[in-house]
Amino acid sequence: MLEIRGLQASYGDSQALFGIDLRVPAGAGVALLGRNGAGKSTLMKSVLDAGPRTQGELRFNGVALQGQSTEARARMGLALVPEDRRLFATLTVRQNLELAWYAAPRDRPRMTVDTVVKLFPLLAPLLERLGDQLSGGQQQLVAVARGLMASPALLMLDEPAEGLAPKVANDLAREVRAARTALGLTVLVAEQSIAYARQCTEYVYLLDSGQIVFAGDWAAFDADPQLKMRYLAV
Ligand SMILES: Nc1ncnc2c1ncn2[C@@H]1O[C@H](COP(=O)(O)OP(=O)(O)OP(=O)(O)O)[C@@H](O)[C@H]1O
Ligand SMILES: [Mg+2]
Repeated sequence: MLEIRGLQASYGDSQALFGIDLRVPAGAGVALLGRNGAGKSTLMKSVLDAGPRTQGELRFNGVALQGQSTEARARMGLALVPEDRRLFATLTVRQNLELAWYAAPRDRPRMTVDTVVKLFPLLAPLLERLGDQLSGGQQQLVAVARGLMASPALLMLDEPAEGLAPKVANDLAREVRAARTALGLTVLVAEQSIAYARQCTEYVYLLDSGQIVFAGDWAAFDADPQLKMRYLAV
């Protein structure tokens, strides 16, 4: 589905990604692990052409992404839930979701608020609350639900569990898994939390200083405890 070869990304003179190769197969859940500054967000933004300057090969369902605008990429079914949740504080949860519906590309299938609430039952009691009347975990849930409103084929979640208590993170992981099953959704999840990422993905890429230092499934990742020590320990 998503294929990245030799991706370089820079901000001005400063290079952040150095020759990334990464594949996200259709229907898969792929975790992108790495500590602060490793390049996780840069990689996700590169896929949407939303920030860094990039070089290298990016393909989505066989179609080259280079030269395509961010909107064109969204129309192809790519979506990102950014690190900062960016909810509208003075709109209700329902309005935040509806706004995403209006903002979604015209030619994509769309979800109704009802369908999203069925997938994420934790949203039901929150629909009439204002964006700034939610806890961090609730905001994150709404941000992920909002990402689904355009029925993306590949949803990229940038550190969805950041700042969440383990119980809340578990709930969110369960809902992401449920959404994957119900919608046949493919996800790429950037995380520093191994525990969270493990719950909603099958494959792991480990990023360090803008380079991939490991790629494999969770069993292979667990088989090498050095990886955690070297690249994720704080
Ligand atoms: N807008 C920007 N301008 C210049 N440099 C940036 C910008 N955004 C990120 N960088 C740099 O690019 C590198 C990768 O940053 P990135 O945000 O991709 O890391 P990350 O893995 O998402 O980290 P975190 O876990 O803290 O979110 C870092 O060295 C960072 O300082
Ligand atoms: Mg980041």
